[in-house]
Amino acid sequence: MKYFDEIEKSARERNIPVMEKEGLEFLIQTFNEHQCHRCLEIGSAIGYSAMMMISNIDDFVVETIELDDARYLEAIQNIKEQQLEDQIEIHHDDALTFDINDLKYQEFDCLFIDAAKAQYQKFFEKYMPLVQKNGICIVDNLDFHGMIFDIDHIKNRNTKQLVKKIKRFKDWIFNHEEYQVTYYGIGDGICVIKRK
Ligand SMILES: C[S@@+](CC[C@H](N)C(=O)[O-])C[C@H]1O[C@@H](n2cnc3c(N)ncnc32)[C@H](O)[C@@H]1O
Repeated sequence: MKYFDEIEKSARERNIPVMEKEGLEFLIQTFNEHQCHRCLEIGSAIGYSAMMMISNIDDFVVETIELDDARYLEAIQNIKEQQLEDQIEIHHDDALTFDINDLKYQEFDCLFIDAAKAQYQKFFEKYMPLVQKNGICIVDNLDFHGMIFDIDHIKNRNTKQLVKKIKRFKDWIFNHEEYQVTYYGIGDGICVIKRK
């Protein structure tokens, strides 16, 4: 695991957002409990979470999409160095406009949304149909450093807009008649979404 610790440390030093350890452990545990084997990830960054999933879940593959040029190239490099090319399929694209026909797999048993927070609902609506009936979706960063509980006191206009959008997604999904959502106060707030 030393290699992965180094990747995580290096990402944090360069302000590349990667999932908190606690959240990642929860993600891995949840996918293991649900016997997931095929994950679609939105937001690969440098491939850290995808590589951690592969290394901690038996018989697992990840298909992942990353928008940023430099992060995509670094992810490719990291995946190659660990010889995980057979288990991680990475696309360099905007997940909002990405053509789903270009996916290697057409069905998944888990979806992990970890890209632009303002677009959570769009990602969910676009990619959840690719998740099989009993599959699950995990969404991270739902509390936005606790700000979601105190929106009126946020001074920065852009931050306020973003937090409002996250809250809108949260309210929408929690009240959705087709989905059952469980919230966990782990890391920055994670929810696990299943079909009812
Ligand atoms: C929080 S990071 C992902 C971290 C990664 N899952 C991990 O834990 O190692 C979010 C990533 O989503 C990417 N992103 C943002 N908007 C995107 C979009 N529309 N399509 C694809 N990737 C996007 C960002 O460039 C960023 O690298």
